[in-house]
Amino acid sequence: MDQQTLKEHVAAAALERVAALPNDQLVLGIGTGSTAECFIRLLPQIKSRIEMTVSSSERTATLLGELGIPVGDLNSVGVLDAYIDGADETNDQLQLIKGGGAALTREKIVAAAAEVFICIADGSKRVGTLGAFPLPIEVIPMARSYVARELVKLGGQPIWREGVITDNGNVILDVHGLSIDNALALEGQINQITGVVCNGLFARRPADCVLLGTAHGVEVLTPG
Ligand code: 5RP
Repeated sequence: MDQQTLKEHVAAAALERVAALPNDQLVLGIGTGSTAECFIRLLPQIKSRIEMTVSSSERTATLLGELGIPVGDLNSVGVLDAYIDGADETNDQLQLIKGGGAALTREKIVAAAAEVFICIADGSKRVGTLGAFPLPIEVIPMARSYVARELVKLGGQPIWREGVITDNGNVILDVHGLSIDNALALEGQINQITGVVCNGLFARRPADCVLLGTAHGVEVLTPG
């Protein structure tokens, strides 16, 4: 089965879970990336249940708009019923690396505001130890070199994602060579570097479940 089909399967499984939520009208956080996009393309099926969505990127907001799904401001809605998004890596504790699409900061904000975070990914994203995927860090542009030097002190090799400006007007450093045994500690440590806006470790707010597309069907990872 190709990767695209696996993504479509997990997107469909996520839609089923969202449709099964008890509220009549739903406020949903919507992620960014090719797997999230598979999910977004299914949303018209439950359009009558969607009161509002909050998008994690301009790209996603545009697609939602094209599909006629209402998109609002996080400040104007309360707690989100669910957040649905992909990931670049997940471990079995449901800690994630995200930010391959440079949307990590808004993704982390929307995830934080959600009751339930449903992560969707093809099976290749499951790892024993996080870090083979270079860890994205969103940085204030003038702090780029300083932050890069500080990241080297933490044992990583940061590479500037040249030509990429985030929706927040910042730049991305991708940190190679990390083997992340304690994601919670590293997430906090990187956030302490002056000039860092956000890092792509989702350990303080991990997923609540990860739906993984595999050749044998959709596997569900849950905490514990
Ligand atoms: C964007 C993300 C994406 O969720 C992540 O990169 C996975 O993308 P895809 O579903 O295309 O593999 O974090 O910032």
